[in-house]
Amino acid sequence: MTTSSVPRDADAVHPAASAPLSVTIDGTPVPGVAGQSLAGVLLASGRLSWRVTSVGGRPRGVFCGIGVCFDCLAEVNGLRDVRLCQRQARDGDVVVTQHDPLPEPPSHPDEGAR
Ligand code: FES
Repeated sequence: MTTSSVPRDADAVHPAASAPLSVTIDGTPVPGVAGQSLAGVLLASGRLSWRVTSVGGRPRGVFCGIGVCFDCLAEVNGLRDVRLCQRQARDGDVVVTQHDPLPEPPSHPDEGAR
């Protein structure tokens, strides 16, 4: 796997060799290279979404790619609500998708009004 379509010998920048890594998403191993974000690893594997919206169950993955929209949330190594576009992939990372329902409304109309 390479991060460039230019052959390394022909690249004027002389990049270092890619260091392979592997992460799992919902138990499935996914290969990547050092320097990729977790979202980049998933996108490169062909996975375009990894959670669904609370209302309507619409698929979500990367929308902004810069840490603003929070569409790319998932659990990483037991930590919930990680933005995968902002988290650099590390070998052995365990990613679990999140599909959170909406919170229950208060049982009394005045409850939770503050
Ligand atoms: S894609 Fe927008 S915060 Fe990650």
